Amino acid sequence: MPEPSSTSPPARAAGLDVGQSQGSASGREPKVPSPGLPTHVAIVMDGNGRWARQRGLPRTAGHRAGAKSVRAVVEECLRRGISALTIFAFSSENWQRPKSEVRVLIELFMSTLRTEMRRLVEHDVRFRVIGDLSAFSEKFQRQVREGEQNTRNNQALTLQVAVNYGGRWDIAQAVRALAGELMAGRLDLDAINEAAIGERLATSGLPDPDLFIRTGGEKRLSNFLLWQSAYSEMYFSELMWPEFDADALALALADFARRQRRFGRTGEQVGDGRKDKAARISKAASDSDDAQHLDAMATSAQPSRDVA
Ligand code: FPP
Repeated sequence: MPEPSSTSPPARAAGLDVGQSQGSASGREPKVPSPGLPTHVAIVMDGNGRWARQRGLPRTAGHRAGAKSVRAVVEECLRRGISALTIFAFSSENWQRPKSEVRVLIELFMSTLRTEMRRLVEHDVRFRVIGDLSAFSEKFQRQVREGEQNTRNNQALTLQVAVNYGGRWDIAQAVRALAGELMAGRLDLDAINEAAIGERLATSGLPDPDLFIRTGGEKRLSNFLLWQSAYSEMYFSELMWPEFDADALALALADFARRQRRFGRTGEQVGDGRKDKAARISKAASDSDDAQHLDAMATSAQPSRDVA
């Protein structure tokens, strides 16, 4: 594995200080996995409106300030070598907001994409949008496609933005895709399992989020990544989204690093119990009728990055 590299000259030239990173922010070398670091962070960016109201500003000022937090968090993810960040920019339900606010949110998304694209390219960020884009103008859809196309080979960080996204919508469209394949005779009924559904979700190709953050003090999922967050660690911050910065993310990451992720197993199994199991497996390999069974256990007990 290559040594972690520091901020590249183009990164500095772009005005982003990504500092020391586990993988170069602009290089192509593989990341050095860090124990306790989430691979994929998902964020519900809540509290823009309240942040603005507290300051006597219109709600839309909160959204503009929120766009700055997006930048700070992206920079921090690059610095730390986090592989994927998914942010909830516009939910399927947000259409119910006043028309003027919806318009500002869409314009803000487009203008931010325009102004930040160069930096995303320079920082080796892959940009991806999930959600039902058919509701947006042709211009909007083209801009998104171009952004995705321009960054498709980038590797430092996948920035996935959920727009007109809902977890239930995602599951429904995956089920519809499966049903279509089944009816067309391209899929057996028996092939419909969790993996098959996962492959047809909008997030296909990315691991499930390890850490799910929600700002703004509320403690709910709000229809975000319902399937994918089955085993995510939840972190709720009292900060309004425009207040959430690199330090706030660092606190969330430190909290995550202290969690024991068990995925249905016992603490002993994922902690020291794992060593006991490894010893039993190695003994059984030579002298026990249980060898095959223990082998299967060994596969399921493989040390992996999923235990933080
Ligand atoms: C929730 O706060 C926030 C949103 C619905 C929009 C989030 C959008 C941004 C941060 C804008 C920038 C994003 C990109 C990708 C350019 P809220 O309005 O519900 O706040 P409240 O609960 O205080 O009313």
